[in-house]
Amino acid sequence: MLAEAQTRVRAVPTGGPLGADIVDFDPGHFSDEDMAVVRQALLDHLVIRIRSTDIDDVAFERFGSRFGELLPSPDFTRSRPVYLENARYVTIISNVTDDGKPIGEHGDGELHWHTDLAFTDTPSALTMLLAREVPPTGGNTSFANMYAALGALSPETRERIKRLRMKHQASHNAQGGRRPGYKDIETDDVREMPGPIHPIIRTHPLSGRQALYLGRRFGAYIPGLPLAQSEALCDELFATANDPSRVWAQEWKLGDLVIWDNRCTMHRRDAFTGLGRRRMHRLTTRGERPV
Ligand SMILES: [Fe+2]
Repeated sequence: MLAEAQTRVRAVPTGGPLGADIVDFDPGHFSDEDMAVVRQALLDHLVIRIRSTDIDDVAFERFGSRFGELLPSPDFTRSRPVYLENARYVTIISNVTDDGKPIGEHGDGELHWHTDLAFTDTPSALTMLLAREVPPTGGNTSFANMYAALGALSPETRERIKRLRMKHQASHNAQGGRRPGYKDIETDDVREMPGPIHPIIRTHPLSGRQALYLGRRFGAYIPGLPLAQSEALCDELFATANDPSRVWAQEWKLGDLVIWDNRCTMHRRDAFTGLGRRRMHRLTTRGERPV
């Protein structure tokens, strides 16, 4: 109460199944009271957006670090860095090339529904994207509310998945290529692919609420089930999770800063091939083992 009395910062819901705009807030200059409102908005709305930000990358990094421990950029896999020299936790996500080489990650193709770093033992908690260049159209990012997805399952399915876990295959990336460290994996059998096993229902450590927790559909497997049963249940869970009735799409504008919680949302990106330059600066925070 006290915090709200001392700040003008407000959350304005998008009107969709999740998401809110944070207004009267400057991520370059803010008080602890302002920050308390922003944190609460993220817990309440799962995705928050700050429009027309005018901060440099050092300030972006400083702001991001207020949400938790920042994860280093994955530069070890690259022939050239995809982080910024002056802000080393900031990763470039872009289709732009320089001298024929990509300046960042993920190109211009579609990125299917996923949660960030679900294929690791401790997936990232939050992801933040700051739009530095956007094409006139395309490249939208859609978010799904995974609290609502869990609530939308039939009582029978919910009862069934309470006792089940899911393997999130780690060997292949979103484009189907092998991830570093998995060059020798030859199998196409999801039962044999390597990857961490996480509960299908997880409890958010801050909100205390339960959410459906999925990664990518490709390579997902529910250990202990015959393959056909696992495939059918995975199809049902992903179809429920990604139903348009529980999805809100962010249409990027220059200066948009969007923060989402990977512990209670999934996201995907539209392709934007041939539509122009797009450059996002990304931060992620360290998460915990899902329980
Ligand atoms: Fe992602």
